[in-house]
Amino acid sequence: MGKAAWIGTMAMLATTHVAAAPPAMPVNPTAGTADWWKLSVIYEIYPRSFADSNNDGIGDIKGITGRLGYLADLGVDAVWMTPMFPSPQADFGYDVADYDAVDRQFGTVADVDTLIARGKAQGVKLILDFVINHSSDKHDWFKQSRASRDNSYRDFYIWRDPKPDGSPPNNWTSLFGGPAWEKDAKTGQYYYHFFYPQQPDLNWRNPKVEKAMFDAAEWWLKRGVYGYRLDAVGTMFERADLKDNPVASGTDPYGLPQQQRLYNTEQPEIHPTLQRLRQQVIDRYPGRVLIGETYVATAPELTRFYGAHNDELQMPMFLSLIGTPLTASALRPRIDAVETNPAGGWPTFALSNHDQPRAASRYARPAGTSSDDMAKMIGTLLLTLRGTPILYYGEELGMVNNDPKRVEDVQDIIGRKGWPKEKGRDGERTPMQWDASTNAGFNAGAKPWLPVAPDYTTRNVAAERADPDSVLSLYRSLIAERRTNPALAGDMAMVDRGNAQILAYVRTGGGKRLLTLLNFSDTATVMPLARVGGGRTGRIVTQNRARIDGATIRLAPLGLMVVELL
Ligand code: NOJ
Ligand code: CA
Repeated sequence: MGKAAWIGTMAMLATTHVAAAPPAMPVNPTAGTADWWKLSVIYEIYPRSFADSNNDGIGDIKGITGRLGYLADLGVDAVWMTPMFPSPQADFGYDVADYDAVDRQFGTVADVDTLIARGKAQGVKLILDFVINHSSDKHDWFKQSRASRDNSYRDFYIWRDPKPDGSPPNNWTSLFGGPAWEKDAKTGQYYYHFFYPQQPDLNWRNPKVEKAMFDAAEWWLKRGVYGYRLDAVGTMFERADLKDNPVASGTDPYGLPQQQRLYNTEQPEIHPTLQRLRQQVIDRYPGRVLIGETYVATAPELTRFYGAHNDELQMPMFLSLIGTPLTASALRPRIDAVETNPAGGWPTFALSNHDQPRAASRYARPAGTSSDDMAKMIGTLLLTLRGTPILYYGEELGMVNNDPKRVEDVQDIIGRKGWPKEKGRDGERTPMQWDASTNAGFNAGAKPWLPVAPDYTTRNVAAERADPDSVLSLYRSLIAERRTNPALAGDMAMVDRGNAQILAYVRTGGGKRLLTLLNFSDTATVMPLARVGGGRTGRIVTQNRARIDGATIRLAPLGLMVVELL
């Protein structure tokens, strides 16, 4: 049979399949242990966009609580909720005006308590976002700090005199456009901001800042949150002498010369501070974890964030995977490097988040395949590697980006500043697609803060839950497998390492072996079992565009298979 014909046969088999109710999600056997996070699935929720309980167009905490049943059924062990603290929303919550409270548009502290309690009953833990590098300029600390040069909060932030000609203290630029310094007329000094001017950097060299921030972390731990994702952890410190950064070639999306951010990112002082956070705060509460937003290029840099004695972050995300071309040859050495990191740290993988175009649309697709095929490749990779996957809401549906078409529609400030080179992050933040009703079931009909993506009538939880071949069903079945098959709790070995088309690896544990094959290429190919350790195949856990043919597995472009080896 030719390639097209056998794929056609598989598609027919798929559509004639009679939908039976999918099996219930098994419990995670490690849920009550200190190491619960290792075999867990963590799920990122952007609260503005998940579920809007009071129909004001903005998602909220009660909306999340109302959807805990869905999360438990999907097999989510912990939710990382992005910031819901009081905020002027210049950066949609990443500008925090009070670390110990909740913004009214998202709900109340009591709503978070309820989310924690109901989550506990359903086996879903809550992890918050801790914005450590900066606060909002409307935080009381900053209001005091800018009031006068001798205010007791002055040193909570980084203030410097202008150069003699009145220009900023050095050449550092903001990641979000323009100089990283803002002159404050009242006191005649500049303050430093790595992100927007509404996000002044905290001065972590001041022990009072450390104390205040550690207290804030503890405030929520006492309420039962399971830890934090540390925002922009690499930007916490700046070199004390504020040395100019080397200028690089080209311009940034906002028109200023590019620079190598050598002296205001990844400074050594970060690490002892993280060790103290771990020891003095996190480790005093059993099972609590720190995840890092660690945008480093290489595994050795990532290794530093585990700490020399695994005494910093348990889960620094290997985010440079996001920028890695999705090919077997590019992925293999990167995954290997994390797998074998000298700290022995536990790998943590994510391929999407609220700052990056959604993975299913970010990666180019060969002709003849769909974004669902790509979404299944991504899900299979994340859920079968050794490590903790961090899924982004809607990734399990194969949600795609829905970028604004006109600058007038853009909500994210960087999209307005950088248009059209930088369109901002609205496209990956559109409402969760629950069903085919108005606004995809996000709310009861009020205009959502961002438009629902047009594919919601077919790409939604209700439709995909009923379809055994959907992206969602693939995610559910692999998460169930993680909870029941000891191979997915065991070792991992890359096999057929020279293969430029297929990423292939075997997970081994509890006397079981599980083979994953992912054909990232745009041509059909075969994998003889002899090349992956021989033996016979057993149960097929999942497949898409792939089939077993005697002692060979045939894979179409973006074909995948997860199968037991006997
Ligand atoms: C990283 C967050 O993920 C992003 O959304 C935010 O804009 C910056 N940090 C600044 O807090
Ligand atoms: Ca709301």
